[in-house]
Amino acid sequence: MIKLFDVYPLNNIAITRAQGSYVWDSNGVQYLDMYGGHAVISIGHTHPHWVKRIKDQLEKIAFYSNSVIIPIQQQLADKLAEVSGKNGFQLFLCNSGAEANENALKLASFHTGRKKIIAFSKSFHGRTSLAVAATDNPAIIAPVNETDNIIFLPFNDEAALADCFKNNGKEIAAVIVEGIQGVGGINIATDAFLKLIRTSCDENGALFIADSVQCGYGRSGQFFAHDAAGIEADIYSMAKGMGNGFPIGGILIAPHIQPKHGMLGTTFGGNHLACAAALAVLEVMEQENLISMAKQRGMYLMNQLKQIDAIENVRGKGLMIGFDVPENIKGLKKKLLEDHNVFTGEAKPNVIRLLPSLALSRKQADEFLDALKESIQELLQNTQ
Ligand SMILES: Cc1ncc(COP(=O)(O)O)c(C=O)c1O
Repeated sequence: MIKLFDVYPLNNIAITRAQGSYVWDSNGVQYLDMYGGHAVISIGHTHPHWVKRIKDQLEKIAFYSNSVIIPIQQQLADKLAEVSGKNGFQLFLCNSGAEANENALKLASFHTGRKKIIAFSKSFHGRTSLAVAATDNPAIIAPVNETDNIIFLPFNDEAALADCFKNNGKEIAAVIVEGIQGVGGINIATDAFLKLIRTSCDENGALFIADSVQCGYGRSGQFFAHDAAGIEADIYSMAKGMGNGFPIGGILIAPHIQPKHGMLGTTFGGNHLACAAALAVLEVMEQENLISMAKQRGMYLMNQLKQIDAIENVRGKGLMIGFDVPENIKGLKKKLLEDHNVFTGEAKPNVIRLLPSLALSRKQADEFLDALKESIQELLQNTQ
């Protein structure tokens, strides 16, 4: 017998079917998915166009190595330029968010010839070597991943950033920052902070890496959350929503960064099947106007959430929303799932994160709000 390596605390639910913003378990029970499988579902589960594109591709060819031309990669790059607005950037494809950040950090170091990286408190950049070293969670950093090359600064602290660049400016290869911190609890980088990162990088020859793995791909109501500050990063890392559940990641690289053969590489990255999935995602985002839908729906949800007295600090942008759950209703997430069949996300210690499909309908938003209000009422009744 082989047991599964027990690294996740599991809900005792097996999901066997999904469509749009709903999933069904092995007993046929329907759940509303306000979690999006951790911000992965961008256009909705099993979207018919996405399914068809993958099926059609599968019947032609699923994979061949990056030693040959793979035309669908360029098709994806062209569509990405159109939808993201990052015309002139270069695309390197890989398979996950951690891998995207790993490549971004490595590229910054190659490009600058430097070793130091600035990262921030409550950041999450993935679980591979340098990505995890730049993640503010000592519990997930193995001894072999420990390095002096990461400088952690307080998030949104302009003075600390300016000071660090003043003292170490010429050693810094890159600053890596999420536009909206996800795992850290839905913390929005201020425009002033992102602008200061931009000017500090420019003045010191460092690269600005915009970790857009969770907050990117339209989730914030703009293609990249960092766009709100009116700045452009040197590298954008992407994954999660990029494939709507099909594993694919990538980095968008500014035109001034020169590639060299052998600098980056991958076996599976950019395979035919993954590109077909990613292309379908962008096509649907465009056809269904999902970025502005996310913005609109997000504003509606936030306005409604702010009227609920029992929850605190409602914050976010688009369909990346968080709120604090006070001690008197701390069982809220569990109650939503077990008694009202609603999946939500969390951030320790007491944040509920909402990361639904960008195609969440108004009716589904209302369904969630009703379930939330009922859950709160039930919890408050129990404590009286
Ligand atoms: C901001 C951010 N960066 C990187 C990652 C890592 O992505 P992956 O789990 O695909 O490696 C995550 C995953 O949650 C993330 O939220």
